[in-house]
Amino acid sequence: MEDKRTSGRLNVLLLGSGGRESAMAWKLSCSPHLELLFIAPGNGGTEQYGTNVPDLNIKDFEAVGRFVIQHGIDLLVVGPEDPLVEGIADYFEERRELFTHLLVVGPNASGARLEGSKDFSKAFMMRNQIPTALYQSFAADERAEALAFLETLRPPYVLKADGLAAGKGVLIVPTIEEAANAFNDLAEGTWGSKGQRIVIEEFLQGIECSVFVATDGKDYKILPIAKDYKRVGDGDTGPNTGGMGSVSPVPFVDDAFMKKVTERIVEPTLQGLQKEGISYKGFIFLGLMNVEGNPYVIEYNCRLGDPETEVVMLRIESDFLLLLKSMANGSLKEYQLEEDPRTAVSVMLVSRGYPGSYIKGYEMTLPEPTFETQLFHAGTAITDGKLVTSGGRVLAVSSYGNSLEEALNRSYTVAQQVLFEGKNYRHDIGKDLLLDS
Ligand code: AMP
Ligand code: GLY
Repeated sequence: MEDKRTSGRLNVLLLGSGGRESAMAWKLSCSPHLELLFIAPGNGGTEQYGTNVPDLNIKDFEAVGRFVIQHGIDLLVVGPEDPLVEGIADYFEERRELFTHLLVVGPNASGARLEGSKDFSKAFMMRNQIPTALYQSFAADERAEALAFLETLRPPYVLKADGLAAGKGVLIVPTIEEAANAFNDLAEGTWGSKGQRIVIEEFLQGIECSVFVATDGKDYKILPIAKDYKRVGDGDTGPNTGGMGSVSPVPFVDDAFMKKVTERIVEPTLQGLQKEGISYKGFIFLGLMNVEGNPYVIEYNCRLGDPETEVVMLRIESDFLLLLKSMANGSLKEYQLEEDPRTAVSVMLVSRGYPGSYIKGYEMTLPEPTFETQLFHAGTAITDGKLVTSGGRVLAVSSYGNSLEEALNRSYTVAQQVLFEGKNYRHDIGKDLLLDS
């Protein structure tokens, strides 16, 4: 196989199938340094940017390894958390002699514990004096101890399962009685949490934002800041979802706030990882709460967020492929990150019933994309040559604007033009920020 490095262009394999990966694939496809892009498994929209590999199981590392060799992959980019937590980066690291020039973006399993284990990440923050909600963690049979700790907190009460629970592992309840029941539910595994420790923490009152840090293990760059909207209903009502929309930049995140984020969170996090011997080449997602102007970490993730990535990709002006390459090969210091000064907004169109059960397979009609609006597919598939819905979150309608209002108008106009049975979306994305922008 020809070594694509002679042309300077790279063959890239991107793992994942959501709106996040669509946005990353779009941005990668804009790079003159890209030779071939494969998206595994991909979705009904990612084929616009490269070649889907629908049959590659991204948790079968040997199969991924065979694909890397067969297709001369130079750069492997891991979108979702599961393969990272399960050690995909370690798999390739341990087989360096087989994958001599493969670059991997994504932390090894010990770094991915920042997301994979809340017990680990909370203890890590304590060890490194990183501001976060006060907490204690309990085994499933430590009910009495848990109740005693709950008695010391003020309502509402926050309980979390220790491991990955696809967003369902966090319960926030108003009374001690409900907190005791929530503990039982988590202990019994009602939320896929069986056998896990349970973290109980103080409730933080404030506004959330998402900060993505790119690192090569030594240096870092902070990507454009975003905010996502987690509840399914207008006015932040109804159950939590994976995310119903996003906005970047975030008006309340000013230089003074970012200075605190950098000094109190980003740098201590990277120093903590280094001190603990964890070599981290990938993205660190800081889910932050702004409590009266002071940032607290709600959670770490070991990947980019969805749907924040849909707006972050619009706002990165410099070459994204070169960013990923420099993260993986340790040359991030030389990379010049440039941001687009415009506002970006993403409105997620979802299937009626999401985040509960919903029907898949409805045919979709899409308007033509424009320079101002990208349609990032999330839960779509091509069946019998037709584009159909295949997930709860279906399409992220993502627009630029010279103001937040203009970006919102564009996304909402296109949201109406997208047609599929059961289409649902929030009508108030970014509205809470309009007054300050
Ligand atoms: P997590 O999965 O830890 O991100 O939690 C999901 C959501 O629950 C967060 O995005 C917050 O909106 C909320 N949440 C989690 N922990 C807290 C906390 N300690 N105080 C207030 N809200 C929280
Ligand atoms: N938007 C939140 C997440 O990706 O976890």
